[in-house]
Amino acid sequence: MNNFASKHVLIVGGSSGIGAAAARAFAALGADVTIASRSQSKLDAVAADIGSGVRTAVLDTTDDAAVERFFAGAGPFDHVVVSAAQTPGGPVRELALADAYTAMNSKFWGAYRVARAARIVEGGSLTLVSGFLSVRPSKSSVLQGAINAALEALARGLALELSPVRVNTVSPGLIATPLWSKLSGDARQSMFDGAAARLPARRVGQAEDVANAIVYLAGTPFATGSTVLVDGGGAIA
Ligand SMILES: NC(=O)c1ccc[n+]([C@@H]2O[C@H](COP(=O)([O-])OP(=O)(O)OC[C@H]3O[C@@H](n4cnc5c(N)ncnc54)[C@H](OP(=O)(O)O)[C@@H]3O)[C@@H](O)[C@H]2O)c1
Repeated sequence: MNNFASKHVLIVGGSSGIGAAAARAFAALGADVTIASRSQSKLDAVAADIGSGVRTAVLDTTDDAAVERFFAGAGPFDHVVVSAAQTPGGPVRELALADAYTAMNSKFWGAYRVARAARIVEGGSLTLVSGFLSVRPSKSSVLQGAINAALEALARGLALELSPVRVNTVSPGLIATPLWSKLSGDARQSMFDGAAARLPARRVGQAEDVANAIVYLAGTPFATGSTVLVDGGGAIA
């Protein structure tokens, strides 16, 4: 088991879903964890739930100046994870261009801003969160697939540019997180049931499944430039 005792880990997007599960996993392994996102109240709730002295920071990754200011005053970190994103989606011909730009600005440029500004110690790591639509496109989520592919390419390039800091991507499939809370309970359950029936893993993912892969990448000194799929077999089904 990896030992993150005394390692400072920053989870951008740590107030919910995959980021919150990663924060919990690192804290359980002894890390000194900071979670960042836009909402102080959501951060406070997750920090109180995890305990272990988890620290919080309000940070909007779409704000160039705020990201630079935050990293000028924080760190250096041993490991940084970016799971923050809020991405309007839909078919290319139907999604308003403004919403498409918002999605790219949040998920791709948000991670790019963090990668550009974060101070990470030698031998530390940066882990981005993409999504399996990069390799298994869906006709109703074409832009999301393109954003995810761009993130994976960004991580591979950064693994060269930022070496010896390691840079990797975790690519989740369908994961039961608050991301899906905008769907009604019935619609969500029927989507999850349908996916579970189609997937080789015969279930949808949990945030902890993705957190395991994030911990693996951060804690494995020979892992860099990798994309790890955690998709229940979605890319091959
Ligand atoms: N769940 C899935 O099925 C799935 C599948 C494939 C890929 N993914 C990807 O996995 C990542 C995490 O998703 P999730 O399921 O954990 O979603 P989630 O539960 O909605 O969490 C998203 C997190 O991002 C934060 N956030 C959003 N916009 C932000 C911004 N501008 N600045 C800082 N923080 C921001 C949110 O916190 P605040 O609201 O407090 O800012 C929240 O902590 C996303 O990139 C998502 O696209 C998810």
